[in-house]
Amino acid sequence: MTALLSVEGLTTHLHTDVGVVRAVDDVSLAVAPGEAVALVGESGCGKSMTALSMMRLAPPAARIEAGRVMFKGRDLLGLSARQMRRVRGGEMGMVFQDPMTFLNPLIRIGDQVEEAISLHMPERGRAAALLTLEALRRVRIADPEQVMGYYPHQLSGGMRQRVLIAIAIACRPSLLICDEPTTALDVTIQAQIMDLLRGLRAELGSAILLITHDLGLVAEYCDRVYVMYAGRVVEEASVFDVFARPRHPYTRALLRSTLRLDRRADGFRTIAGQPPNLVHPPPGCRFHPRCPEAFARCRTDEPDLYGSVGARARCLLHAPEAA
Ligand SMILES: Nc1ncnc2c1ncn2[C@@H]1O[C@H](COP(=O)(O)OP(=O)(O)OP(=O)(O)O)[C@@H](O)[C@H]1O
Ligand SMILES: [Mg+2]
Repeated sequence: MTALLSVEGLTTHLHTDVGVVRAVDDVSLAVAPGEAVALVGESGCGKSMTALSMMRLAPPAARIEAGRVMFKGRDLLGLSARQMRRVRGGEMGMVFQDPMTFLNPLIRIGDQVEEAISLHMPERGRAAALLTLEALRRVRIADPEQVMGYYPHQLSGGMRQRVLIAIAIACRPSLLICDEPTTALDVTIQAQIMDLLRGLRAELGSAILLITHDLGLVAEYCDRVYVMYAGRVVEEASVFDVFARPRHPYTRALLRSTLRLDRRADGFRTIAGQPPNLVHPPPGCRFHPRCPEAFARCRTDEPDLYGSVGARARCLLHAPEAA
């Protein structure tokens, strides 16, 4: 696979009053051109911090300690702030959970989309306005001429998310990073937005990195999955494998905790225990305190990712010597 994006050993620490939070710990992942890849895991496992570190948008308390973020042959961690601004919103689009934090409440929708376009494209004036209109049409906003004159508060949550997607795709990025793009929306709107993303992927050929805790979305919209636990990738697999034969006990627990409509409600179980504190993560396997399959060595030995690239798990049950 020739990767479009290849993250290698990314490690981000947050320096806080309570200590150093090891939010992203030696994370590696890859996305091929046009591929839809999911990054899943419980709240606080480091999904957003991974994406923000990749895009160099992590909060001031964050420090990238190690790693490379290769995107189209360049290491993004080595680019100047100015070069990075060209990548973001140009070749790499972003969609976040809460559109209101990214839309300026005082600026009309049309001007906000147009501004994003003029940052990255040569078009100005009438030509830029036409591109804006096209971007709004592409995200299936009815009556885009009128919507261009609206302020964000005049739109519903679903419409605002469409505007954010319009901004993200206006420059036809080769990678779209979507961090919980539908969590704030109700279920019907959620499906509309996900279908829209799927359509755009087909139309523009963009790859998608979808960050979510919703395995239902993963099953329906993605090709491959990385499962994160406590700042680390614990499993990587195809979507088919992750559901048919999950390798890591954490992945199995995550699947059991997902309420599925085709199963009786009593099959639903939450994962016992709390995710670990990332200031003092447990020794050995980070999942061992909650793992129903843990044995003595899991408390002391840190597992590697065992298996082959694209089909492996960070679990001693899969270590070659265990076989
Ligand atoms: N600004 C911050 N300052 C200090 N710690 C932070 C900050 N943002 C996140 N963290 C910590 O970093 C870790 C990773 O957080 P992150 O936001 O990446 O999780 P997540 O997987 O995206 O969770 P969610 O599903 O809730 O969005 C968590 O332990 C969190 O408490
Ligand atoms: Mg998050």
